Amino acid sequence: MERILISGGAGLVGKQLCKKLKDKGYSVAILSRASSQDTGIPTYAWNIDKKEIEKEAIETADYIIHLAGANIGDKRWSAKRRQLIIDSRVDSGQLILEKIKENKNKLKAFISASAVGYYGAITSDKIFCETDDPCNDFIGETCRQWEQSANGFEKLGIRTVKIRTGIVLTRQGGALAKMLIPIKIGIGSPSGSGKQYMPWIHIDDLYGIYIKAIEDMQMNGAYNAVAPDHNTNSDFTKTLAYVLKKPFWFPNIPAIIMKIIFGKMSAILLKGSRVSSDKIRTAGYNFLFPDLEGALTNLLIKK
Ligand SMILES: NC(=O)c1ccc[n+]([C@@H]2O[C@H](COP(=O)([O-])OP(=O)(O)OC[C@H]3O[C@@H](n4cnc5c(N)ncnc54)[C@H](OP(=O)(O)O)[C@@H]3O)[C@@H](O)[C@H]2O)c1
Repeated sequence: MERILISGGAGLVGKQLCKKLKDKGYSVAILSRASSQDTGIPTYAWNIDKKEIEKEAIETADYIIHLAGANIGDKRWSAKRRQLIIDSRVDSGQLILEKIKENKNKLKAFISASAVGYYGAITSDKIFCETDDPCNDFIGETCRQWEQSANGFEKLGIRTVKIRTGIVLTRQGGALAKMLIPIKIGIGSPSGSGKQYMPWIHIDDLYGIYIKAIEDMQMNGAYNAVAPDHNTNSDFTKTLAYVLKKPFWFPNIPAIIMKIIFGKMSAILLKGSRVSSDKIRTAGYNFLFPDLEGALTNLLIKK
């Protein structure tokens, strides 16, 4: 049975990804800063500062999925937090690479999370695709360094895939849970101009793309993991209210209020680009949830 090691595998995406992979017949293990997790999945400890990973974790891995990293939306972006957001992704990836080199492990593929923030917090009608350059804003630079550290695996001749992920829609939490709070109490409204795009993906499609990245030997390099539908923040909030049969008539939340509440992080809430899903679709992935109304109905209405 092939073994997949998932760094940060006890997080929002990882926890359910472990289950999907187990259901597909893979052996799954998690790499965590804690020596045990209540996930029921074998967990190996690592200490990124001390450059330590339990040896067996690396020795037994056929594939590694690298999800670990300090959460981007949990806390205000102080200078210290911004550095942690970068280091927790880049240093951890470097550490895995060093251990792979030391153990002469014959890894079949290294699959790293990345984010559509690669293209920057920019509102425009341009549709960004994988050949576009990274933006030089904070998240663009984070993604550039994150992906560059993944490229170290490619240099070793290991198939390397980078999944530039949009906002993950899941019942379990994340951005959707935060957006639902005002909608449910009937005061939902767009943020700032409401014209910023919000590239999103249903969690089942993200899993589908990760599984394809493991199984499809032709997949190499960066792929956007976003639904084909392009929705602005205004469309998104309106569709959310419609699906939940809640009112939608409050005025937009002024950008200045968002800046006061979220500080520098408000950039990713007030700006957002259109991102293409063409490359992953051309690679043969068929989206289960290509449109927003269908995705939200599945997550919020269907049991
Ligand atoms: N969710 C989204 O909407 C979204 C969108 C775009 C990209 N992504 C990316 O996809 C990946 C997985 O997302 P997620 O939502 O599952 O994230 P998450 O719930 O925040 O989980 C990430 C995991 O990373 C580990 N971690 C946290 N801080 C760390 C640190 N300082 N050093 C090393 N590891 C640390 C934690 O595992 P332990 O505590 O077990 O060590 C945590 O469970 C992340 O890299 C994220 O940036 C997510």
